Amino acid sequence: MAGTSHPTELRVDPDRLTARLGALAEIGAIDGTEGCARLALTDEDKAGRDLVVTWMRDLGLDVRIDGIGNVVGTLAGATDGPPVMCGSHIDTVRTGGRYDGNLGVLAGLEVIETVTAAGLVPDRPLAVAFFTDEEGARFPPDMLGSLVYVGGMGLEEALEIEGIDGAVVGEELVRIGYAGSAPLPGLAPHAYVELHIEQGPVLERAGITIGAVDSVQGISWQEITVTGQSNHAGTTPMSMRQDPGFVATSIANFVRELALELGHPQVGTVGRIELRPDLVNVIPASATLTVDLRNTDDAILCDAEQRLADFVTAIAETEGCKVQSRTLARFEPVIFSPSIVDLVERTAGLLGHSVQRMPSGAGHDAQMLARVCPTAMIFTPSRDGLSHNPGEYTSPADLQAGADVLLQVMLALATDEEFSDD
Ligand code: GLV
Ligand code: MN
Ligand code: MN
Repeated sequence: MAGTSHPTELRVDPDRLTARLGALAEIGAIDGTEGCARLALTDEDKAGRDLVVTWMRDLGLDVRIDGIGNVVGTLAGATDGPPVMCGSHIDTVRTGGRYDGNLGVLAGLEVIETVTAAGLVPDRPLAVAFFTDEEGARFPPDMLGSLVYVGGMGLEEALEIEGIDGAVVGEELVRIGYAGSAPLPGLAPHAYVELHIEQGPVLERAGITIGAVDSVQGISWQEITVTGQSNHAGTTPMSMRQDPGFVATSIANFVRELALELGHPQVGTVGRIELRPDLVNVIPASATLTVDLRNTDDAILCDAEQRLADFVTAIAETEGCKVQSRTLARFEPVIFSPSIVDLVERTAGLLGHSVQRMPSGAGHDAQMLARVCPTAMIFTPSRDGLSHNPGEYTSPADLQAGADVLLQVMLALATDEEFSDD
């Protein structure tokens, strides 16, 4: 890398990275699979946190935990000041893989170990963070910890959030011992770079090793509760029904049709449907379902939300049911720092990896950090585009490529080579 003053020949140790990924994946391991279940703030999450914090301390990092349970480990630089930060999350969905989030955190530790083993002291501090409840699967919204870190939600409000199992964020944080005292909002880094698996099919299909992620699509999550008249399944004529189950499944069909009609990149998912009392011979009294809509274009996403709302009102009225909607998460599309995206692209090329620019379909902590500092992401391929599934897989060679790009990008950013988005 001509014109740079950091050691461009430095590379990570892929075996160490794979070993840490394997050790963390043993916590909450899903029998018979490579995947794991560590929903945010559960006992499994606590055990995963304890392991990563031990690794951070073993590497000599200064470890700070804030009030929402975000953990930041910092390696001092030659000068004080905001660090070059990387990171991600170690919570998973209930049927998660071993790479989603974990890769960004453990590759960060690998960067630190590589730098210290080489006897290097970067100009700026280097930090590795893992943010609480990125998945939002237990406690919506997703990216909760990083949202609070950047001041997008107050701590008090976040601590009161109730989960799908009735647990409360603040109580669970105390219970697992991760209600820390580091100040919030957190220190804005000099720059933030997140390595993550793509979780989609784009890189694999194109035969490309590295994604230089330039944006994240907008996310809209809502929970819809439908109430009707519970009654006997055998005796109630079809003309007399007020069936929340019918309304919920009609909404699910509509979400599918809406996404297809709006076309790529609009996506729509109904991930949860809960019927009560959930019995074969009882017309449900209520149905609760979630809708996840995403698009890179916020105007189209707003249009999708409006069309869904109109449909929900109409179908409920026709069936004689009542509906209530509640927003679980709503984040606009985010554009990353052009100069850091350039740096990722250039670095991947210089390391001999094929690279392409791309948006992210998934939500990431990086989209929150982008509110307070120049930010970008590095993607590695996902086999068969599979994620949020225990079968999630990225080859060791691709993991190594991603971690090497992360290392070199962080060193460049920490070595007073100025970047500018002007
Ligand atoms: C977070 O993983 C998301 O749902 O995109
Ligand atoms: Mn993730
Ligand atoms: Mn995820």
